[in-house]
Amino acid sequence: MIFNSIEEIATFIVKDGKGILAADESNPTCGKRFDSIGVESTEENRRDYREMLFRSKGMKGNIGGVILFDETLRQSAKDGTLLRDLILNQGALPGIKVDKGLQPIDDCPGETVTIGLDGLDERLKEYSSMGAKFTKWRAVINIGNGIPTDKCIDVNMQALGEYAKCAQDNGMVPIVEPEVLMDGNHSIDDCFEATSRCLDTLFISLLDREVDIKGTILKPNMVTSGSNNSEQADVEEVAQKTIDCLKAYVPDDLPGITFLSGGQSDIDATAHLDAMNKIGGFNWKLSFSYGRALQQPALKAWMGKIENSTLAQQALSHRALMNKLASEGKWDISLEN
Ligand code: 13P
Repeated sequence: MIFNSIEEIATFIVKDGKGILAADESNPTCGKRFDSIGVESTEENRRDYREMLFRSKGMKGNIGGVILFDETLRQSAKDGTLLRDLILNQGALPGIKVDKGLQPIDDCPGETVTIGLDGLDERLKEYSSMGAKFTKWRAVINIGNGIPTDKCIDVNMQALGEYAKCAQDNGMVPIVEPEVLMDGNHSIDDCFEATSRCLDTLFISLLDREVDIKGTILKPNMVTSGSNNSEQADVEEVAQKTIDCLKAYVPDDLPGITFLSGGQSDIDATAHLDAMNKIGGFNWKLSFSYGRALQQPALKAWMGKIENSTLAQQALSHRALMNKLASEGKWDISLEN
């Protein structure tokens, strides 16, 4: 696959309803996922699990990009094939998470800033030489008593702007991820407000640095009720409020918006995406960059046993297809059986 510009790369990833498989869990996060199935998080087990995922038949045609953690970009399958080549063989592009995680912000209790700008340019040069075509940086925003503060939003969105510029200068598409967490008992309107403030500040930060919007992908949360709120907004309300929020702040020429799943069930994440695409009326491709909502059924089927690989691959293939259909507004709950 030959690309002449980052704009072509961004367009390719979300073409024809395709989305992104987020498989960039850091080793501690992967450890948590493996704990849930009683599997030890060793380098070999992480390799075997991801090799199994990347060999799934249903990757082809449904997944346009896979986000990797540093370890995985360097790893080879059991037969010696680089894992990143398995991804290319499926018609998808390898990408890389490049931030270095979260650090508390002085004087802002309960809030964090994402770090990793130090040495970023050198890391990006190496990743590009290894074939990574896109990158991801995740900022995390909490909703709670008096938060998010303007300071937290500002420092995180400035860092996202710096990162995005640096990724483009190295010929890679930046995925900018300002994740407003679902954790808490806040209302959907609180989520709408916090997400609006983040997106507003983020696009000012990108434009200030002359980041090429046509070579950028946005990975936002959907606008939902807090996960501990006893009154959960229904699918239609989530879809409409998410579109309203995006339309207010996201430039029309952004090629793709690929949502994170953020702890939604796999079916909810698909149903919400489908509902938005059925409503329509926007220029961007509205697609997925799910971690848990794509992997959870496969992880449960796998259980660390090679003899379960086929079932696990069928589970991932099914979710990939369901989400591709949702990206085209062609999903229906009856397809889940
Ligand atoms: P989830 O879909 O599990 O939220 O993960 C996506 C991701 O990459 C978070 O950074």
